[in-house]
Parts: sequence; C-alpha cells; structure tokens
Amino acid sequence: MAEPLLVVESVNKSFGGLKAVNDVSFRMEQKEVLGLIGPNGAGKTTLLRLLTGILKPDSGSVKFKGKELVGRNIWNIVNLGVACTFQNMRPFRRLPIIANVMVSCLSPRSHGKGEWVKKVENKAMDALEFAGISDMALEKASVLSQGDLKRLEVARAIASDPELLLLDEPFGGLSPAETDLMAKSIRRLHKGGRFGRLHSEGPAMIIVEHKLQQLMKIVDRIIVLNFGTLLAEGTPDEVVNNPQVIEAYLGKGGD
Ligand SMILES: Nc1ncnc2c1ncn2[C@@H]1O[C@H](COP(=O)(O)OP(=O)(O)OP(=O)(O)O)[C@@H](O)[C@H]1O
Ligand SMILES: [Mg+2]
Repeated sequence: MAEPLLVVESVNKSFGGLKAVNDVSFRMEQKEVLGLIGPNGAGKTTLLRLLTGILKPDSGSVKFKGKELVGRNIWNIVNLGVACTFQNMRPFRRLPIIANVMVSCLSPRSHGKGEWVKKVENKAMDALEFAGISDMALEKASVLSQGDLKRLEVARAIASDPELLLLDEPFGGLSPAETDLMAKSIRRLHKGGRFGRLHSEGPAMIIVEHKLQQLMKIVDRIIVLNFGTLLAEGTPDEVVNNPQVIEAYLGKGGD
C-alpha cells in the first residue's frame, strides 16, 4: 500500500485552560479530499494552524510524506508542499493583487532557478487567472470584495504548488453564486492539469466548511471535531446521518 500523505498522531493544543485540540489523530491518503467540520469553536482552524507550523502543538506528531512537521517553520513546511488559506484574510492591502500572490511564488519549491522574477510574475498571473481575478491583478488588494478576497487566498495558496492544500472556509461569506464558482474552481484544481503555465498535480485537500451541502459534493471523507476532540469520521453520508454529529450541531432534542 502507498505511504499515507499525512499522519497526525495525538496532537494537543491548549490556550490557557482551554483544550482547543484534544488528542486528535487521523491520516490522509495521497490525493484525498477530506472535509473537516464541527460547530463554532470546535478547534478546526487551530488544527489547520498546527498542520502548517503557524502554531506549535503542545504534544503530538504530524508527519507529511514521512517527514515530521512539528518543529519546522512555516517557510520550510510550505517548501515541503503544504499550503493553506486563512479564515480571516489579511492580504497586503496596499500592494497590488499580483504582488500578494508573487510572495508565495518565492518559495524555492515554486520558482526554481533562472529568470525567476519573470517566472514568478507569470506564475502569479496564472494563479490569479485560475482563481478568476486576473483582470484586477494590478489593482491594490484593498479594492477586493469578500468573494474576491477568497479567490486571492486560493491563488496565493496554489501558487506555491502544494501537494496538500488546506482551505479554511473557502465559501465563508460568499453568495450562493460565488459559492458555486468557488466549488467549481476547487474541483477543477483537484482534477489537476495545466492552467496556463501553472501545472497542478491535483493536490490533496483538507477543507473546513460550515456549508455542508456544498462540501459534501467535493470531499471523499469527512472528519468531525467537537470541543477539540475527534467525534466521528466517515463518508459524507455516514457523517451527516450520525446521531452524535447531529446532536453536536443541533443540541439534544434537535431534528
Ligand atoms: N490564539 C488563541 N488564543 C486563545 N484562544 C484561542 C486562540 N485561537 C483559538 N482559540 C480558542 O480555541 C477554540 C477553538 O477555536 P478555533 O478557531 O480553532 O475554532 P473553529 O472550529 O475554527 O471555529 P469556527 O467554526 O468559528 O471558525 C475556541 O474556543 C477559541 O476561542
Ligand atoms: Mg475556524
């Protein structure tokens, strides 16, 4: 059997007395698309941050293609092939949109050698084109709407050529029409292929979302966090019909 892409073992993170992530373990196969759901405050964003080195776990292990990520810095982790988008988007607002994406292309993983400034610019442009905002490339990031900021996040993340892409609420704050477009982009990216000069092998993904109907159409499997603990795991159908999951979302007596 192929080596798992990601193996998370007994990861813990507390903030003061609050156990935000409590002894979480799971694994992912190559190319898998995993949904990560749970009520507000369940620890989803914290878990993603632990995977990318933004936060350091109190204990536990995160292995990506056999390599321990705990203890590495963000830069190093991006260069191994893990990229993420943020729930709270904070672009460099005064910089042109394209410059926000060029920053990601500066990873040695992405730009390679040679005439790299031109390459970086081309690649950033392809990522913006993929995300559907290339026509605004030279405007300042501060002009972007909520939906377009989400697109910028995706462009920024895919520009580093990730093998594992972590998306934190890619549909958050989007209208139904924008959500459909974003879902289409995510599916297209996962299929892989050539988009201009941007070549995607179709990364594995972990997608955090509250919009379950849309999420279920994209993911192979879902894991559920509740109060920092892994509550359930299974196919989308199994998970949404799991009584414990329904109770966690709706409270006792909910239908
Ligand atoms: N930097 C921090 N300092 C202190 N507490 C934090 C910090 N980050 C998160 N928390 C707390 O940890 C818990 C988990 O938060 P987290 O943001 O991971 O939840 P979430 O599942 O992403 O929620 P949402 O669906 O609302 O985005 C919450 O109680 C939150 O208040
Ligand atoms: Mg969150």
